[in-house]
Amino acid sequence: MATLKGQERQNYVADLFSRIAKRYDLMNTLMTFGMHHRWKKTTAKLTCDNVSGVALDIATGTGDLAVQLAYQSGIEHSVGIDLIPEMIDLAKSKSGKANLSEKTTFIIGDAVKLPFPNNTFACATAGFSLRNMPDLNTAIKEMVRVVQPGGRITTLELTPMNNGLISRLFRFYFHRVVPLVGYIIARDRSAYTYLPQSVDYFLESDSLAEVMRSAGLVDVGYRKVGCRTVAIHYGMKV
Ligand SMILES: C[S@@+](CC[C@H](N)C(=O)[O-])C[C@H]1O[C@@H](n2cnc3c(N)ncnc32)[C@H](O)[C@@H]1O
Repeated sequence: MATLKGQERQNYVADLFSRIAKRYDLMNTLMTFGMHHRWKKTTAKLTCDNVSGVALDIATGTGDLAVQLAYQSGIEHSVGIDLIPEMIDLAKSKSGKANLSEKTTFIIGDAVKLPFPNNTFACATAGFSLRNMPDLNTAIKEMVRVVQPGGRITTLELTPMNNGLISRLFRFYFHRVVPLVGYIIARDRSAYTYLPQSVDYFLESDSLAEVMRSAGLVDVGYRKVGCRTVAIHYGMKV
């Protein structure tokens, strides 16, 4: 399923995330031993350093990153967009519980066809979502299009690991343990079998950095977190 392309991939991903929406946060916390919260905070801080205005989080899911963006000084408002209505409902409720309803907006929409004019946002993020896009290049170009010149674009994504002992341990964990936990907690083994496969088929960090440069970003770089299983990429629109 991780090899599907275009609309077929989009339909598969949409069905998968509507099935697991209610268990998504719990599964994320279990799978990453709670570390995804820290990675998202780091991503938001990196994105908003010296930035002021309105922030965008594409494929926001249950809204963690949009909420983190809203906490950053300089950010007046944060907008999260996702294909799946169930995710958007959960994001709204999360932001309400954090007393951020006035500072956040969550809308249903497609990240490869963002419903915003050019140069709308001060910055934009994508968390654990690029792997799921029907077209990665378009998703990144769309983020670049809607961000103002000088604005930063940051992505947080699992990254393929092919060599070494740690890589072998993580592959065992992702391919054997995660589907089992997915079955027990979310009653959905296939969703959590797709997850490690989609990482295997995703770009190496250097290649993703190249895609970001080709989309018109400068000062592109990345840092690895989570024992090098996760990469935070950043770049600036000129
Ligand atoms: C793995 S979740 C990531 C959620 C959240 N960003 C996070 O960091 O926890 C991937 C999300 O991408 C959304 N998604 C997939 N394709 C999309 C698209 N074309 N446009 C908007 N959202 C999309 C899914 O609905 C899902 O909520």
